[in-house]
Amino acid sequence: MQDLMQDKNPGQDSKNKNNTWSGRFAEPVADLVKRYTASVGFDYKLALFDIQGSLAHAQMLASCDIISSQDLSDIKRGLAQIQNEILGGEFAWSVDFEDVHLNIEKRLTTLVGDAGKRLHTGRSRNDQVATDIRLYLRQAIDDLLGLIRVLQSALLDLAEQHTHTIMPGFTHLQVAQPISFAHHLMAYFEMLRRDTERLRDCRKRVNRLPLGAAALAGTSYPIKREMVAELLGFDGVCENSLDAVSDRDFAIEFTACGALIMTHLSRFSEELILWMSPRFGFIDIADRFCTGSSIMPQKKNPDVPELVRGKTGRVNGHLVALLTLMKGQPLAYNKDNQEDKEPLFDTVETLTQTLRIYADMIAGIQVKPEAMRSAALQGYATATDLADYLVKKGLPFRDAHEVVAVAVRFAEQRSCDLGDISIAELRQLSALIEEDVYQVLSLEGSLASRNHTGGTAPQQVAAAIMRARTSLTK
Ligand code: ARG
Repeated sequence: MQDLMQDKNPGQDSKNKNNTWSGRFAEPVADLVKRYTASVGFDYKLALFDIQGSLAHAQMLASCDIISSQDLSDIKRGLAQIQNEILGGEFAWSVDFEDVHLNIEKRLTTLVGDAGKRLHTGRSRNDQVATDIRLYLRQAIDDLLGLIRVLQSALLDLAEQHTHTIMPGFTHLQVAQPISFAHHLMAYFEMLRRDTERLRDCRKRVNRLPLGAAALAGTSYPIKREMVAELLGFDGVCENSLDAVSDRDFAIEFTACGALIMTHLSRFSEELILWMSPRFGFIDIADRFCTGSSIMPQKKNPDVPELVRGKTGRVNGHLVALLTLMKGQPLAYNKDNQEDKEPLFDTVETLTQTLRIYADMIAGIQVKPEAMRSAALQGYATATDLADYLVKKGLPFRDAHEVVAVAVRFAEQRSCDLGDISIAELRQLSALIEEDVYQVLSLEGSLASRNHTGGTAPQQVAAAIMRARTSLTK
């Protein structure tokens, strides 16, 4: 998202005093308090959404004859100029006017006079800010959904090339059973698919209009909330005015979605880091995503995945911050809610940057099939296949498990793989074993046998990739 503040310092203009409510007070607010309570230093990011919301509100006021059509056209002209000033980096934000809403309203009044003062009729900053955040978040969700799709499609491109690339699958980080690299990648596709579903679902609750709730109880003007909702592309209005101005559950929900996305990418990052270490040597990450060491000339460090893992902590922290922010608040609006913005903005920005960089990083991964294969050949990855083979010949599974355990111990003593044990020796362990066992003990045989939906057989994974491609177009 564009940085609307640019180089302007919001604290510069501290001589003007905020006369929005000064009639009620005997002395101006202390300088320290002004800085403590002001939010313009961060909520300026809502400026374009604030203007969008104000335009819709003004249009409704005119249509309901609450303001004149002359007022409406003055407001439109003024807001258009303000938007240009903001986009051009010329708008002078001032901490004296507390937040984005008052900064814009003050400027509007300077530009168009009384019409600017009428804009706030039937509205409060409480329903105004709730509307702005929802507009901001809706846009962020739509952008993030697009970025997840790009990452998913990079995963599919890579997976497509590796349905026959065999690697060890792990449980407890111990070699468990052979799988294809494509199958492993597709696990992350599925996680991202659910992340998408969650964001889409969250969007439904974000996309409701608070305006009209005013400060908390609604307004005595004959407004048309549905009209504003339609102008702003909301699916409907918030049904209860107290709830509309006070709850931020939609922001908490969004951040929970974000924390899960980061958690998934953090797990993936952990694997990329392991796989890139020379002990594994399964992949290489393109140089542009890594850095060297200032002291050890041989080092190439996977900084990007490490930072993704680290930044996950930050987003998880934002989730806890928002939950904590909400938990003790009585109805309706409280100033506490001003603290919702920084965690929310940072969550959106962290997710945006992470997803962008990730898609590019995945596209640049260099896979080393030989290293994966030789790792799969160590650690008796086909032991389960041998047990299943015996079961299919009539041995109860628990007995088969025991026979194979003995076979593994035997192979371990010899420092060889199960497939290297002679047929005569294998038959001493169980007379049910015949020549065809070697097909079962091969990595390819093991993969091919897991031939059902969700299994690692190359044919199944190729079909899953095809289905996934189609799902991305929906
Ligand atoms: N800056 C405030 C916020 O972010 C706007 C709403 C202020 N409302 C109020 N009654 N003080 O929550």
